[in-house]
Amino acid sequence: MHTKWRRDLSGPILVFDSGIGGLSIFDEIRQVLPDKQYCYLFDNARLPYGELDEQVLISGCKALITSIVKMIDASLIVIACNTASTLVLPALREVLNIPVVGVVPAIKPAAALSRNKHIGVLATPGTIRRPYTHELIEQFGGDCKVELYGSSELVILSERKAAGIDIIQADIAKILNPIKCSGLDTLVLGCTHFPMLKVEIQDYLGENVLLLDSAKAVAARVISLCLQLDEKNRNRNNSKDEVSGSESKEMIALYTSEEISDGLKNTLAKIGFSNIEKVQTG
Ligand code: DGL
Repeated sequence: MHTKWRRDLSGPILVFDSGIGGLSIFDEIRQVLPDKQYCYLFDNARLPYGELDEQVLISGCKALITSIVKMIDASLIVIACNTASTLVLPALREVLNIPVVGVVPAIKPAAALSRNKHIGVLATPGTIRRPYTHELIEQFGGDCKVELYGSSELVILSERKAAGIDIIQADIAKILNPIKCSGLDTLVLGCTHFPMLKVEIQDYLGENVLLLDSAKAVAARVISLCLQLDEKNRNRNNSKDEVSGSESKEMIALYTSEEISDGLKNTLAKIGFSNIEKVQTG
């Protein structure tokens, strides 16, 4: 990787997902903290995460994320992926000495907002299976009937949309039909890929179903941690850490597959990523 980082008061924020889903969270963070440096890392060589063996997911994420944190000297990491968050947060926190923020499906607000006390969680098959999710429902589901729906197809459709390929509404309909028929009035988008298809999902389910995701809540947590970090660094360093390297605020997107499509490159460039590179390992 050839990009030089302008050394900020604190290092870049690393946002991680298996694919383009984490951009829904990145977008919320950047709206409030536009002057930070960002690196978006996506492990698309191993997508969809919802189908991966648990141990493979944990060890792979740990190795990839720790090496990139070191390479860019990240100050904070956001695991902008529900599937990874259900498994890898403890392993990462054990080896990293920077804040690690995860994503939690918005079950608590969904239970509070549902009028008919019937909610659903739409996530990856991995997230739907994990004890982490079942404990959240136990803790925050209140008196609601909670139904779980797992789909990796929707992850793939969301990736296709980001690559500029038209989404066929019949494909969405096939996946969401059981939800439409269930009578629930509030649906948690428990995978960060799904807000990317919010318009299509809402169109199919109708305006009477409220869609909720956690992007704003995660962004709020990141913002508060960043303010604390900046304050700490200012007190510690005064001005000595403010310099060196290029003055431009480059944003990097790093992927793990051999290649990505021109469509996806265009989408990333439009968001503002000036460097889009394959992760160099070893
Ligand atoms: N975006 C991810 C999530 O929030 C994972 C999608 C996948 O790779 O299966 O769960």
